[in-house]
Amino acid sequence: MIQRDPQFDEVGASGVKQEVSSEDGALSAQFENVLRPQMLREYIGQSLIKKNLQISMDAAKSRSEPLEHVLLHGPPGLGKTTLASILAREMGVSFRVTSGPALEKQGDLASILTNMKNFEVLFIDEIHRLKPAIEEVLYAAMEDFCLDLMIGKGPSARSMRLSLPRFTLVGATTKLNMLSSPLRARFGHTFKFELYSTSEIEDILHRSARILACELDPEACHLLASTSRQTPRIANRLLRRVRDFAEVHEETSHLSVSTTRETLAALGVDRLGLDRVDLDLLKTIIEKFQGGPVGLSTLSAALSEEQETIEDIYEPYLLQLGLLERTPRGRIATKSAYGHLGLPSPSSLFSS
Ligand code: ADE
Repeated sequence: MIQRDPQFDEVGASGVKQEVSSEDGALSAQFENVLRPQMLREYIGQSLIKKNLQISMDAAKSRSEPLEHVLLHGPPGLGKTTLASILAREMGVSFRVTSGPALEKQGDLASILTNMKNFEVLFIDEIHRLKPAIEEVLYAAMEDFCLDLMIGKGPSARSMRLSLPRFTLVGATTKLNMLSSPLRARFGHTFKFELYSTSEIEDILHRSARILACELDPEACHLLASTSRQTPRIANRLLRRVRDFAEVHEETSHLSVSTTRETLAALGVDRLGLDRVDLDLLKTIIEKFQGGPVGLSTLSAALSEEQETIEDIYEPYLLQLGLLERTPRGRIATKSAYGHLGLPSPSSLFSS
């Protein structure tokens, strides 16, 4: 249940890991790893978080203490895991990775914790999905660096306290409200990840293109940045697809704006970065439910998508663009949604 990301396996005493080669190009996760910044100075955006973490890391190092536990929250793809791995590297310690759903029993967490070394970073992704019984083990571990174990059952049961190394827990979640308050209260730092500006995404794309040895035209870069939903993971994925297109169709590593347009069209990504599922969602509300309001469960059945996927993956960006509204009576497609889809908006709804 503990996963050691191949990229992080070799992080030794120095904590500085060489960049992984992308030569075989087999797995998309490996590609993503190649593009991950290794140190804080290479990490673009989230400037407030970086500034605060830099101060706390410097202070912890000067006191020869571990960094206090860190909670990172925000939408997927914004670089929470990347930042967590950077913290370990900057502190000069190993980085261990697991996730809320991967920890099934108290013993799973106990065996990870008892094998940690002083100051090491334990990263728990999707920490909001920890089982309550496991969360309880974490309380004493985080607060007192102790593990409370129950030995035996029934009247003869007794508790035993083991001391643990002084580690740093970095938790990541897309759903801060699903974290219990006792768990939240045990983090010394809580940081919210913000969506990236277009110019930050452009900087990330230029950096990634350099690593992938491609020549990315400024206009192509701007187009990619504006269709990336302000999310580095999406930007880097689209960049790799444009590179595929350029290499296969044009046998070049030069990424032009025309190749970029062609790639986006082939992927069904429009000028706002909406894909077929986003467009389907809006069209379904408009065409099947007269623009809404329509309840989430009805929408989920009509689209054959899970409610959680609609809520967490598709809706946030549509809400942010002002194409969708969430109301107590259900979801509504806005006037801008009709405009974006080139459909006439019903005058009864929008005329004043
Ligand atoms: N790749 C993905 N996210 C990044 C970031 N925030 N900075 C630099 N490169 C990245």
